[in-house]
Amino acid sequence: MQTGLRRALLIVMAAAIALAIGLAARLAFFGGSLPGDGLALIGGPFTLQDQNGRPVSDTDFRGKLLLVYFGYTFCPDVCPTELQTISLALDQLGKDAAKVQPLFITVDPARDTPAVLKDYMSNFHPGFLGLTGTPDQVATAAKGYRVYYAKAPVPGGGAADYLMDHSGFVYLMDREGHYLAHFVPNTPPEKIAERIRKAL
Ligand code: NI
Repeated sequence: MQTGLRRALLIVMAAAIALAIGLAARLAFFGGSLPGDGLALIGGPFTLQDQNGRPVSDTDFRGKLLLVYFGYTFCPDVCPTELQTISLALDQLGKDAAKVQPLFITVDPARDTPAVLKDYMSNFHPGFLGLTGTPDQVATAAKGYRVYYAKAPVPGGGAADYLMDHSGFVYLMDREGHYLAHFVPNTPPEKIAERIRKAL
């Protein structure tokens, strides 16, 4: 009995590991390119507010392509680098940049108030909207985009000193809010601009 149970558990574990390796390999191989089965489900409704305190929801952007990135303004380097990359990609699109709405959605609403976002977004492409909301509103948006985030306390720091772990894909959504493509961290702006052009 015991051995049988153990063997069954081992088989289940081996299957889980094989699945994980398969998924990782697939992700590495397909990287920033095209739809897998689960990816088509990325996106979904959200209600947030922008850096000017205006309420926004996903349906406000129908008719435009969306570039969506989740992060937080205290992020030491990954987020600013990615927002800069998106800004450069939009610059390369020239006039067509007007057909794309870049969104930065905070995963740290406790610190990222509209005022904080307004100041921060002034460093990047002028078309950018920085979005925040209640913790629940942010969680709903992140869940739709399958974005993971979690508070990461800084050793020896106070309660207000923390980082946020978060996943770092940039999502390209079509004019109806459906998933088109994603870009892994450090994708060059040229690649992003090229993919957007195909969707214009
Ligand atoms: Ni970050």
